[in-house]
Amino acid sequence: MKRIGVLTSGGDSPGMNAAIRAVVRCGIEAGMEVYGIKRGYEGLLDGEICQLDRNSVGDILHRGGTILKTARSERFRTEEGQTHGVSVLETFGIEGLVVIGGDGSLRGGCDLDRRGIKVMGLPGTIDNDLGYTDFTIGFDTAVSTVLDAISKVRDTSSSHERTTVIEVMGRHCGDIALYAGLAGGAEAVLIPEIETDVNELCRKILIGANRGKQHSIIIKAEGVEISTAALTKTIEERTGRETRPVVLSYLQRGGTPTLRDRMLATLTGAKAVELLQEDSDSKAIGTVNGEIVAYDLQQALAQKREIDREMYDLIGILSK
Ligand code: F6P
Repeated sequence: MKRIGVLTSGGDSPGMNAAIRAVVRCGIEAGMEVYGIKRGYEGLLDGEICQLDRNSVGDILHRGGTILKTARSERFRTEEGQTHGVSVLETFGIEGLVVIGGDGSLRGGCDLDRRGIKVMGLPGTIDNDLGYTDFTIGFDTAVSTVLDAISKVRDTSSSHERTTVIEVMGRHCGDIALYAGLAGGAEAVLIPEIETDVNELCRKILIGANRGKQHSIIIKAEGVEISTAALTKTIEERTGRETRPVVLSYLQRGGTPTLRDRMLATLTGAKAVELLQEDSDSKAIGTVNGEIVAYDLQQALAQKREIDREMYDLIGILSK
């Protein structure tokens, strides 16, 4: 394979730049020409494509965001859009593509694969919602950001003897809440995978307060059905304790990537180039038990992510 492309798509995540850098530099080392596609599938459809050299990815390893920009493309969801995407790649002579993004972005890669383009998918999302990989690029950084926020909120929550509900991202996946809740010592974690029992939650807050707990931190994933505002109000009404909401939102998507995210991004980026060089079939690349793995793209995306129930139960035990 002589010419490959790389794009980032969907919500950005810390470590995407490290992945782009690895793809570009490993690709050039392997004798390939590497093309950057701007704004994900949107830029592909608009032909926003230019060649990248070693220098163009200098000084980005430590930066959050993505130098290629990103977008969610409605146009690419259509048959017409996908056919056009393939014709643009053919126009540029691009035979293989590295797609860095979450579930929807990698599914876009499947659509191109079905039309004859070799696609290597890298799991770039803070949500950690892909079933085939233990971790996604950006998740570790996002959880570290949440942990930092919990520590700060804890100070003021304790001084004022309040309950604080911290809403975190993750779309339909509770992993950010779960990991941050366990490592951050939350009183309770609410995730979409497990039904929320507001009475049980309020009981727990009151039992804790009666035992002398000064305050409570509740981590709520955004995918939980009850809104953060409604939950905060209900907790305050039922427990009689001052309760405040904190929505961390896009704070979680920025920042310098952690060691784990840089390693995952760099190693999966290098693997993607290796596979394209071998003219391998399309793959989803990730990490399982500390090893870099590559699975059939379509099959990998069919794997459902399961929540770690033991981790959830442990939070309950530690916060009694
Ligand atoms: O998929 C990453 C993510 O940050 C989710 O956690 C969140 O639900 C969504 O993107 C927000 O998307 P947008 O950037 O389009 O508001």
